[in-house]
Amino acid sequence: MDKDAIQALAQTDMLAVNQLIQSQVASDVALIDQLGFYIVNSGGKRLRPLLTVLAARALNIQSNEHIHLAAIIEFIHTATLLHDDVVDESTLRRGRETANELFGNQASVLVGDFLYSRAFQMMVGLQRMRVMDILSDATNRIAQGEVMQLMNCNDPNTTEERYLDVIYSKTARLFEAATQLAAVLTEQPDAIENAMQTYGKHLGTAFQLIDDVLDYDADSDVMGKNTGDDLAEGKPTLPLLYAMWNATNEEDAALIRSAIENSDGLPAFDKILAVIKQTGALDYTRKLAEAEADFAIQALNEIPDSDYKQALVALAHTAVERNA
Ligand code: IPE
Ligand code: IPE
Ligand code: MG
Ligand code: MG
Repeated sequence: MDKDAIQALAQTDMLAVNQLIQSQVASDVALIDQLGFYIVNSGGKRLRPLLTVLAARALNIQSNEHIHLAAIIEFIHTATLLHDDVVDESTLRRGRETANELFGNQASVLVGDFLYSRAFQMMVGLQRMRVMDILSDATNRIAQGEVMQLMNCNDPNTTEERYLDVIYSKTARLFEAATQLAAVLTEQPDAIENAMQTYGKHLGTAFQLIDDVLDYDADSDVMGKNTGDDLAEGKPTLPLLYAMWNATNEEDAALIRSAIENSDGLPAFDKILAVIKQTGALDYTRKLAEAEADFAIQALNEIPDSDYKQALVALAHTAVERNA
């Protein structure tokens, strides 16, 4: 199933999700309205709400709760991006200036808080304790992931295990909640709920692994974010770590070690990228992402076949094949 077919399948639901997002971002406070509108209409892929909608349809949802859930998940995601771009000092997102670049750090952090808390207000509206339970846990874990990552920053001794823990926490945890909750809303037996959770978790991990590849190996215009952001920050992502571990000479290893330790690698981006490529670090990371996508797809064996399920399978493939 191709991208257009997936979009067509979810179109009606996604229009409703988008309407809800627009109405819920509105505020009498002018700056919230302005910045909120800017970020929610800046061309995000809306992947997480799409997953929620497709998963709920695959499980034959009869209410419109999944529309609310999808908007809630996108708000949580958007809030994390507002905060993340401040922390990462990023200037480009979705092909436009980041909100922090345009409105400043203070406004970005505060409107991020507005979106977070709006998501919780909407959650309460669903009147389902398990939704509250899973999403409060997920948001807390995301925050832990971002803080763990902050601690790993400038630490060249970060292990693959610690890296994987960070990407699960900061990214995969929300994907996991998005798909698990589709099973919760449709009151599925444990086996199916677990399968949907497993699907989201592995898909989210694959997605972040590829995000970390793209930070080195993408066209900024296509991706809509600047390459080299991770290097500039001294962020020990897997492509960089793997290159350091497998560099064929001391000099290359030392260059990367210093880039991580001192955040001074950006002027040597081309040289470091060459080492990353030579050592096969991008292939290694991509292979790991492919394996995660395969795990995700396998988990779907538990659920009945449908076009929606096929769309979920296809999305797992695109998470790995994407260039933006
Ligand atoms: C960006 O997520 C943050 C990561 C977890 C890598 P997306 O790539 O889904 O961001 P948008 O919403 O489409 O801009
Ligand atoms: C994003 O991590 C994860 C969250 C927003 C929680 P990154 O920092 O790698 O994402 P990008 O590359 O800025 O989108
Ligand atoms: Mg970032
Ligand atoms: Mg990134």
